[in-house]
Amino acid sequence: MNQSWKTKYRLLDYDIIDSTNSEAIRIAKTRPIDDLVILAKSQNKGRGRDGKYWQSDIGNLYASILLNNYMPSSNQSQLTLVAALAVHEVVNELLLEANNSQKATLIKWPNDILVDNKKIAGILLESVILNSKNSAIIVGIGINITNHPSITARTATDLLAEGVDCKIEQVLNLLMINFDKYFCIWKDYGYLNIKNQWLSKAAGLGKSVIIKSNDNELVGTFEDLDDEGNIKIRDNEGKLSTYLTGEVSLMLGQ
Ligand code: BTN
Repeated sequence: MNQSWKTKYRLLDYDIIDSTNSEAIRIAKTRPIDDLVILAKSQNKGRGRDGKYWQSDIGNLYASILLNNYMPSSNQSQLTLVAALAVHEVVNELLLEANNSQKATLIKWPNDILVDNKKIAGILLESVILNSKNSAIIVGIGINITNHPSITARTATDLLAEGVDCKIEQVLNLLMINFDKYFCIWKDYGYLNIKNQWLSKAAGLGKSVIIKSNDNELVGTFEDLDDEGNIKIRDNEGKLSTYLTGEVSLMLGQ
């Protein structure tokens, strides 16, 4: 197993923690150290996007990558796309290895990984301001390996349910290899390269989607992403709007 990422990222491994993202924030605030990966077998205050709870039972991957010190604040949101590409590749590789290549693995804006339209992984990007120019970035990643919340049985899935029998260590290893790969592509070749790769895996691109943002709901065509990774939707009157946050629903059967 290639573990070269361990020369760049120090691994902190917990049995149980409130949230690996919260731990990363605490560490970033107290001591500027090397880049870290914080892994926990379970979390009792796992956090999802938009203040939602992230169920964190034993068996899945709960990890936060803490990138310390050097990140210009303006580029932070682009990192969500970097992470989404990495997680997409992990899930896709594992499905292919298990001969489950007929399943479509896609990224749903902003950062859900879907297998046949069911969510298998999510990403929560957070930051801690260190000084006027730099922030520490926390890329929190949850990948469902052996379980997913039963309340979302029709809309969520896990690797085991998709025919992939694998260990957390294997998933973490693949994740870090791929995160480092896309992080280097982003640094060396820039955002456009990442954006184009992301768009090639996007669910609903060029199709009608519903976006719910704050109290508004709009139906329109998903056209593009802007330089901050925000989604561009054209409504039926031809007006193009950009959304920073929101929940995209795909109109199935298109
Ligand atoms: C989402 O809502 O889709 C994002 C979910 C992110 C969950 C991960 S699990 C590891 C890290 N720690 C947290 O508390 N949340 C993220």
